[in-house]
Amino acid sequence: MKNKKALITGISGQDGAYLAKFLLSKNYIVIGGERQNASGSTWRLKELGIENKVKVVPFELLEENNIVDVIRLGKFDEIYNLAAQSFVGNSYSSPIFTSNVNALGVTRILEAIRHFSKKTRFYQASTSEMYGNSKSNRQNEITSFEPVSPYAISKLYAHWMVNMYRDAYNIFCCSGILFNHESPLRGGEFVTKKIIRDLARVKYKYLSNLSLGNIYSKRDWGYSEDYVEAMWKMLQQKKARDFVISSGKTYTVKDFVNKASKYYGFDLIWEGTGLSEKALDKKTKKVIVRIDKKYFRPTEVNYLYGNSSKAKKNLQWSPKTNIDQLIKKMCDHEIKKYK
Ligand code: NAP
Ligand code: GDD
Repeated sequence: MKNKKALITGISGQDGAYLAKFLLSKNYIVIGGERQNASGSTWRLKELGIENKVKVVPFELLEENNIVDVIRLGKFDEIYNLAAQSFVGNSYSSPIFTSNVNALGVTRILEAIRHFSKKTRFYQASTSEMYGNSKSNRQNEITSFEPVSPYAISKLYAHWMVNMYRDAYNIFCCSGILFNHESPLRGGEFVTKKIIRDLARVKYKYLSNLSLGNIYSKRDWGYSEDYVEAMWKMLQQKKARDFVISSGKTYTVKDFVNKASKYYGFDLIWEGTGLSEKALDKKTKKVIVRIDKKYFRPTEVNYLYGNSSKAKKNLQWSPKTNIDQLIKKMCDHEIKKYK
């Protein structure tokens, strides 16, 4: 049988690298789209030992002609759109850029598929951030969206566009509504990686303490390598449908700090409230964690807790890695840098 050919946009990102590894294990020909001013290049592919197995092509979500050329000439069986301005914090200072990339960028891809590659199956990286401050106790595919950040609003636009192209033009396109997922390859701007990286710096005396913003928001954290398999499963279905992918557990940022600190050998005692709250190590009395108002956002998603029963039933997908195993993977990877 002919090998399938897939385009992964955002190949230099966390999920791009793990998805490339996964598709290669399924004998796909993997083409990675990378924007030309890419900062991180392909270090994640190198970490996974697959940099020579993926052909990287220029791919810029802001550039319609570039997108049309790649899709028209590529004749892809599947396209996974993982490229995005993905940091919620930055979307407040760059709302126009974020919308152009995350919202209109997806319309550019859908138009290219509609005109030049109608048989290509398309996966869009939607997000639990779209639920915003929805009142639901656990969010699933029928929970209403109440986005509160420019990032979430841009992603919701793309999410509805994908639905529209599916209904109007009979294109196989769907969205995975993925809850937060992390890994040793997570970008340092996201809170889990920041916690793991900075606590290691404190442990090995390169930093005096870790500074954080809101430690009371709750997130449903899973492991990226588990989640990319669900993306692939969505494109193997008979019918294109959207699915929630989550770990089914929720923890505060503070819980995550406590768990990671324990793994590194700190025994934290918390004291104070609000901006004065801090955590000291019981043995040394040294301040390990501080709160800094510069890390608070103008609006916050306080609570995310997903329900992926539909994925379990229809995709036979369940998460394999729990939060403690995830933290162990991330901490061990970080500690290696100091040994
Ligand atoms: P990531 O590590 O930040 O990767 C984002 C990728 O998009 C990078 O390769 C980045 O390139 C690329 N990119 C940014 N702007 C671009 C543009 N204008 N044109 C082309 N490429 C561009 O994100 P991730 O964690 O792997 O997430 C993958 C996708 O899933 C994103 O769409 C994200 O919004 C979504 N998502 C993530 C999570 C999560 O918890 N990780 C949850 C739900 C949804 P550079 O390397 O040059 O910056
Ligand atoms: N980044 C960061 N840095 N977040 C902090 C900090 C800090 O110093 N202190 C507290 N937080 C809080 C944020 O306010 C937020 O409530 C929570 O930690 C998680 O922040 P991030 O790790 O930046 O992730 P996110 O939930 O905003 O967004 C991630 O998950 C979405 C899915 O729900 C990103 O991966 C998005 O791309 C993704 O769509």
